[in-house]
Amino acid sequence: MIKYNEPMLKDGALKGKNIIVTGGGSGLGKTMTRYFLQLGAKVVITSRNLEKLQHTAQELATETGGEVLALRCDVRHYEEVEQMLQQAVVEFGQINGLVNNAAGNFISPTERLSANAFDTIIDIVLKGSKNATLALGKYWIKENINPSTILNIVTTYAWTGSAFVVPSATAKAGVLAMTRSLAVEWAKYGIRSNAIAPGPFPTKGAWDRLLPGDLKEKFNPAKKIPLKRVGEHQELANLAAYLMSEYSAYINGEVITIDGGEWLYGAGEFNQLDKITPEMWDMLAQMTKKR
Ligand code: HXC
Ligand code: NAP
Repeated sequence: MIKYNEPMLKDGALKGKNIIVTGGGSGLGKTMTRYFLQLGAKVVITSRNLEKLQHTAQELATETGGEVLALRCDVRHYEEVEQMLQQAVVEFGQINGLVNNAAGNFISPTERLSANAFDTIIDIVLKGSKNATLALGKYWIKENINPSTILNIVTTYAWTGSAFVVPSATAKAGVLAMTRSLAVEWAKYGIRSNAIAPGPFPTKGAWDRLLPGDLKEKFNPAKKIPLKRVGEHQELANLAAYLMSEYSAYINGEVITIDGGEWLYGAGEFNQLDKITPEMWDMLAQMTKKR
């Protein structure tokens, strides 16, 4: 039987795709890049730390035999994004995919945050996604590069909101609005725009910041997920590759949740009743059924 954490798409599914993955040097960005390369794409990985990017690029090129280019770019600055894009075009001839994956986040009561702390997250997540999207969109429209695809990595609290990560929730909500807005506005140029909303997928970047110290045990995310496990990276890479490929050519403006049912579990009024044992249900039935 096929396992959920096996690579899903057929060989060559991303051949001809030249994709920029922001934040591609670590975590989920690195995982997606690896799979895109395995499927025949060329990938530009970009973030603030060139040394880390070059290390990842070397590792993934050796592992997959694919072409991967490391370019430094802080997505908070539009000029840096434009320069990175120009360099990417020189190296690869053309770019036709963008994954807005770069993010910043930390947990904190909101009233403790400085204005600059709040801005830092908004600038990376919302302004950074806007910068990359705007630069790529202008380039695609001007050069008539069609089809082209944007994939935004958001999270489920983009629509539920979440306490203690308010800058991130505010920014991700904006990215989701941008996803849906541009899906309509830019469809005429052959630009699709979709999003993935992951639940918990263990990465060093997220875990060290959001579940530091013994919070990992105290708030073990697997416990509040109906499927009782966190996500595996290949599952997300499968979905991302599908959305970047032409197999999903008719999917536009969609946000796909991949969280084992986590956010719905938090939302349903009576979902906590899953803690009731069969014996207790017998008792409750006696108490509530008409005699
Ligand atoms: C409160 C903090 C803080 C913290 C920094 N600041 N960390 N405030 N709590 N833990 C404040 C600083 O005091 C400063 O404000 C301002 O934020 C900027 O901090 P810098 O360290 O100068 O910023 P910078 O070097 O740009 O680093 C950005 C960063 C950092 C976001 C703070 O954590 C980072 O580089 N993150 C990138 C990777 C990341 O976050 N990955 C996790 C994504 S997980 P003042 O006023 O003092 O100047 C994710 C998952 C979501 O998004 C869903 C999970 C289910
Ligand atoms: P991660 O490894 O920390 O990834 C974040 C990346 O963003 C890093 O590679 C970082 O690289 C880059 N980055 C940060 N600031 C940047 C900037 N100003 N310019 C350019 N790049 C920047 O964490 P992750 O867990 O893989 O997160 C990846 C994405 O998944 C994020 O969008 C996150 O919100 C989303 N997500 C993750 C989870 C999860 O459970 N892991 C759940 C839901 C959503 P540098 O430090 O080198 O710049």
